[in-house]
Amino acid sequence: MQQVTERATGEYDDYRRIVHDSFQHWYREGKDSWTGARTNDRVADFVCASAPPECRRVLDIGCGRGHQTAEIATRLDAEVTGLDLLDVWDAPTPRRGTARLHQGDFLGFAADPVDLLVDNGCLHHQRREDWPGWIGHGRELLRPGGVWTISCFLSPGSEVVAMPLADGRHNWWLTESALLELFAEQGFESIGSLVIDRQFNYQGAWLKYLAVSFTQSEE
Ligand SMILES: C[S@@+](CC[C@H](N)C(=O)[O-])C[C@H]1O[C@@H](n2cnc3c(N)ncnc32)[C@H](O)[C@@H]1O
Repeated sequence: MQQVTERATGEYDDYRRIVHDSFQHWYREGKDSWTGARTNDRVADFVCASAPPECRRVLDIGCGRGHQTAEIATRLDAEVTGLDLLDVWDAPTPRRGTARLHQGDFLGFAADPVDLLVDNGCLHHQRREDWPGWIGHGRELLRPGGVWTISCFLSPGSEVVAMPLADGRHNWWLTESALLELFAEQGFESIGSLVIDRQFNYQGAWLKYLAVSFTQSEE
């Protein structure tokens, strides 16, 4: 049993290294077209509109350069932690609230419960077998009545599609039903969703984002 756990952890670490190196390359080459993109403004609008009342503490999972982290801090006047595998933070100081980077892996991150979790473009780069554990870990970090807003690639069809990069990093294009089911399995229900057109053609398909806000369903 111990061997299985160790092997699984080793595989996870191997994949995390691939994600780290892949994103490091993209940021170094200035290919992080998502940073500051208009589509991110729309995600930020959706995140802030979905925030629960008395939203003081926020965790921005996979925050990248931290621009959205700072934007959310300003708009919600909240204490926002941006979490990322990489230290590529070059965010402006928020006009209200606070924003700070914590470098590390989401599955290894522990903190007091937050009011709002944000995942803009991170889950869809994880291994599919890690999705349930990813959401379960987020559930532990979210206070009762808190909100989790996630934005991911939207599949153009009725199936979840794998679009891996040559360097091994996963790009999953999810369906709304798959995302809702995944969160429902962990006790979450949707409180709103938004489809955002990326206006970018990738391998013959028009790329769109699906943003959904979840809260824990009352039993
Ligand atoms: C597509 S970028 C999005 C960045 C940011 N949310 C934005 O919209 O500008 C995904 C980010 O997730 C980070 N990431 C991927 N896997 C992660 C993990 N397991 N823990 C923490 N960060 C991770 C990557 O390093 C990358 O910066």
